[in-house]
Amino acid sequence: MDFAKNENIFIMDHPLIQHKITKLRDKATKTAEFREIVSEIARLMGYEALRDLKVADKTVETPMEETLSPEISERKQAVVPILRAGLGMTDGILSLIPSAKIGHVGMYRDPETHIPHAYYCKLPEAISERTIIVVDPMLATGGSAVDAINLIKEKGGKRIKFMCIIAAPEGLEKLAAEHPDVQIYVGHLDRELNDHAYILPGLGDAGDRIFGTK
Ligand code: PRP
Ligand code: URA
Repeated sequence: MDFAKNENIFIMDHPLIQHKITKLRDKATKTAEFREIVSEIARLMGYEALRDLKVADKTVETPMEETLSPEISERKQAVVPILRAGLGMTDGILSLIPSAKIGHVGMYRDPETHIPHAYYCKLPEAISERTIIVVDPMLATGGSAVDAINLIKEKGGKRIKFMCIIAAPEGLEKLAAEHPDVQIYVGHLDRELNDHAYILPGLGDAGDRIFGTK
């Protein structure tokens, strides 16, 4: 698949995002800083992912005169982190759209088979009317993202965007093929997966590094 030709795939090339991803990759970066940078990257990527928010003109009095000026008219959004690691990106997006509701999808990958298992799904009401931003820092085989979005669609979700900080080509291809209607925002496209389905060069286990577990 030629990712550059897919109009629903957005691979970030902004120097601020790349600089922060380099800090995440560094194994010397400790938990508190790692967590803060994940949130900052989510905010920067969210700025791009929310570019198509609908606006409508509002009348406003400046100190000089009355004018028409745009304000966000689209009120219904949901941010849906894939647990656990997606939680690290949630505040960054919410800083841009604080009135968004929050859903949660719990998935874990079997360490042997790498097959994802869903253990939790709770979404805000009127999910079919919302723009839904699904967040997870890592898109490796793509299994977790594909299954999480399947669950969201089963519950009525329609307008879905997916944001990850690092993707492997294998996962990006799978997600784009199985959910061609979903806009996918990627901080950096890495080289490949290793035999344990970890991303290379990657940043290791995102959940463990965000929460300080092993
Ligand atoms: C990680 C990551 C993704 C998933 C990606 O979660 O946060 O959810 O793996 O892998 P995939 O694309 O091959 O499905 P993990 O299952 O390790 O759970 P955690 O967030 O609880 O650490
Ligand atoms: N999950 C992670 O946290 N890191 C990877 O490289 C792959 C899956």
